[in-house]
Amino acid sequence: MPTSQDILGHLPAGRVLDVATGSGGFIHFLLEGLKDYTEIIGVDNKERAAAAFEKAFEEKPNIHFQLMDANHLDFDSDSFDLVCISNSLHHFDDPQAVLSQMERVLRPGGYLLVSEMYCDGQTETQMTHVHLHHWWGAVDTVSGVTHHETYRRDELVGLVSGLALKDVAQYDLTDTSDDPRNPEISAELNPVFEQYIQRAEGHPDLQARGEELRQRVAEIGFHSATTLVIIGRK
Ligand SMILES: C[S@@+](CC[C@H](N)C(=O)[O-])C[C@H]1O[C@@H](n2cnc3c(N)ncnc32)[C@H](O)[C@@H]1O
Repeated sequence: MPTSQDILGHLPAGRVLDVATGSGGFIHFLLEGLKDYTEIIGVDNKERAAAAFEKAFEEKPNIHFQLMDANHLDFDSDSFDLVCISNSLHHFDDPQAVLSQMERVLRPGGYLLVSEMYCDGQTETQMTHVHLHHWWGAVDTVSGVTHHETYRRDELVGLVSGLALKDVAQYDLTDTSDDPRNPEISAELNPVFEQYIQRAEGHPDLQARGEELRQRVAEIGFHSATTLVIIGRK
């Protein structure tokens, strides 16, 4: 599997923007792979993301969080060298609009990066992750939170191809080397099942789907779904 250095090591990453950053999970991948950077800004529209983000990067003076809607990026055009989004496109009703905003704030010659798990071409154990994700999306949706099913690989490629980037590279990241039925996986997922089954109160079909998936994790096992990373130059 390509490493973060293989994917990012050649990028001239001065000023970096991570869109829909959450607690900054993808920034750890950026820090592992980028040769250097001058500033990294993570934006997210959920206020609760800020505290976890700031705690994660409190020792890094050039990494900041800003509360912002990805549909209206409040930055000058052509002002970043690298603009990223990870595991978030399926959280938007209009992902193309978000990608257009990302392209606008990217300088000519800068790089745009999309990293997103996809739902097709997966092994049975990886399909557990896909089904889980779609169940989380369904529970979020009945709770009023926008969260669609994950895309197929060709849909992701199609979304990014709308931007007419140059020198586009694609990397499929798969790791199915761990024991898929390691009891630690069930132990880790159990609190998440509890939380989502509780959130699905009033929707017995969704609660039953959660219990079926809990069973599936124990019987079939779990591996993370393959992630597609697409990088191109503006
Ligand atoms: C699954 S998380 C991904 C977090 C992070 N990028 C990562 O890979 O770990 C999806 C994120 O999208 C954010 N999000 C959803 N709608 C948004 C919007 N309109 N503007 C900014 N962020 C948004 C959510 O708050 C959430 O933090």
